[in-house]
Amino acid sequence: MLDNAAAIESAGAGELTVHARTRMQGYAPPAHWEELGRIRQHINIPLIANGDICTVDDYHRCVAISGTPDVMLGRGAVRMPFLATQIRANQTQTDSWARLAPLLVHFWQELSTTLSPKDRVGRIKQWINYLRQVHPEAEVLWHAIRLEKSTQIIDGLLPNPETGVLG
Ligand SMILES: Cc1cc2nc3c(=O)[nH]c(=O)nc-3n(C[C@H](O)[C@H](O)[C@H](O)COP(=O)(O)O)c2cc1C
Repeated sequence: MLDNAAAIESAGAGELTVHARTRMQGYAPPAHWEELGRIRQHINIPLIANGDICTVDDYHRCVAISGTPDVMLGRGAVRMPFLATQIRANQTQTDSWARLAPLLVHFWQELSTTLSPKDRVGRIKQWINYLRQVHPEAEVLWHAIRLEKSTQIIDGLLPNPETGVLG
C-alpha cells in the first residue's frame, strides 16, 4: 500500500484519492480511515480520503482519524445530494424532500436525452433506491415504481417539482 502510494507520487501524480478498503472488502463497512493517515505521512502530495463518508459527522471523524481535510464523497452524495454543501457549512440536518424533488424531476428529464427508455427507468430507480435510505417519501415512491417499466407511468408518479408531493 505505501509502496503503491509512493510509486504513484513519483510517477507525477498531483494528488491521490484512496478508497480506504481493499477490493476484497468491497463496499462493506468500516472504511479503514486510519490507514489513510499512514499513507498521508508517506507522500508529499495531497491525499483525498474516500469511503463511508455519509454524514457531516462522518466527515469530521474521517478528518480526525486520517489527518486529511480533503474527502471524496460517493454513496453519501447520492443519498444526500447537498452533503458537500452541508459539510462546508457544518450543517447537520438532512436535505429536505421539497429541495430534492425538483432535482429528481430534472434528472428524470435529462435522462431522456441520453438513455433508452429502459435504461432511463433503471437509472431513476437506482437513485430512488439510494434516496429511500434517507427520505421516507422516496421509500413510498420506491414501492410505487419498483416494478414499473413504463416511462409514462413513472412520469405521473414522480413528485411535483414545486411542492414535493408525490404523483
Ligand atoms: C453510483 C456510483 C458509481 C460509481 N462509479 C464508479 C466508477 O465509475 N469508478 C470507480 O472507480 N468507482 C466508482 N464508484 C465507487 C466510488 O468512487 C467510491 O469509491 C465508493 O462508492 C466508496 O465511497 P463511498 O463509501 O463514499 O460510497 C461508484 C460509486 C457509486 C455509488
